[in-house]
Amino acid sequence: MSLHVVIGHGPAGAATARLLADRGHRVRVVTRRGRPAEPGIEHLALDAASPAGLTEATRGAAAVYGCAAPPLHRWAADWPALASSLCAAAEANDAVLVMLGNLYGYGPVDGPLTEDLPLAATGPKGRVRAEVWERARALHEAGRIRAVEVRASDFFGPGVTDGGHLAARVVPRVLAGRSVSVLGDPDAPHSWTHLPDVARALVEVAGEERAWGRPWHVPTVPARSIRAMVDLLAAEAGTGPVAVRRVPPAVLGAAALFSPLLRELREVRYQFDRPFVVDATAYEAAFAVRATALEEQVAATVAWWRQRSATAAR
Ligand SMILES: NC(=O)c1ccc[n+]([C@@H]2O[C@H](COP(=O)([O-])OP(=O)(O)OC[C@H]3O[C@@H](n4cnc5c(N)ncnc54)[C@H](OP(=O)(O)O)[C@@H]3O)[C@@H](O)[C@H]2O)c1
Repeated sequence: MSLHVVIGHGPAGAATARLLADRGHRVRVVTRRGRPAEPGIEHLALDAASPAGLTEATRGAAAVYGCAAPPLHRWAADWPALASSLCAAAEANDAVLVMLGNLYGYGPVDGPLTEDLPLAATGPKGRVRAEVWERARALHEAGRIRAVEVRASDFFGPGVTDGGHLAARVVPRVLAGRSVSVLGDPDAPHSWTHLPDVARALVEVAGEERAWGRPWHVPTVPARSIRAMVDLLAAEAGTGPVAVRRVPPAVLGAAALFSPLLRELREVRYQFDRPFVVDATAYEAAFAVRATALEEQVAATVAWWRQRSATAAR
């Protein structure tokens, strides 16, 4: 049994740790606050930005999965130390470093996003994400670490809660047959990456030497607008059609005065104001993981939220 260390226990870290444990690996999860132990998973409380602490926590690991992120308003300040510590621990222990990235680094582009696009973002959050990968890739190219980055679009599916645009703010309302308000154009095609597919791709590339040294996009079904996704969720839930309204830009501007999250999201508003489409054909041509069928994603998401609200009501 090889040791796999997952940094972070947000939706992606939790799904990845569970997948690894289910496949029979030894799994250790690192978060600052720590968590109670769960079957097959050891939880360790540690600030992963501490290189000495993380090097110790990853001793003997076959792979380290970078699934932690600072809160959005701390990215520029906190990402460099976290990324540098991940690289240092991977180097000291000769572990494969699998970074989970997003699509901010590309900045606004016309047309589908492919991995060969330059990381041309100019905003602070896009820049820092680009630098995280550029640092890991430079160390990989220097032969000091073995690193790969897996990039996902916005998460969708079981386990995605507050951090998702099609999650806590939307799904419970759809299940109750109530209208939803969304940021951006509700009819713009948008790529939604199924969370379990993110975990499967992270684990797959960790074991595939030919994947290392470059970024890959997680297999993702063809883009659908938020309105189309809400229609599918409502049909699955059997609630009948649910109205989808755009939050008017003036209201959004006023709300951003009070909401740090909305302020932080201004930099990437373009992702929801126009088509935002990820292309994962490179991944699909090279590896085995495929996007879960959309109907299956929608059914699993509705079932997960129903179960969650039933548990909360008890
Ligand atoms: N959410 C999306 O739709 C989406 C889409 C594409 C890519 N991504 C990327 O995927 C990654 C994971 O996102 P997520 O939404 O699953 O997780 P998340 O909600 O960003 O969770 C953050 C996790 O990281 C831990 N953490 C933060 N700083 C840490 C540190 N210094 N040391 C140890 N643990 C630390 C947190 O626990 P403690 O607070 O206890 O430390 C928490 O468990 C992020 O890089 C995100 O940008 C997200």
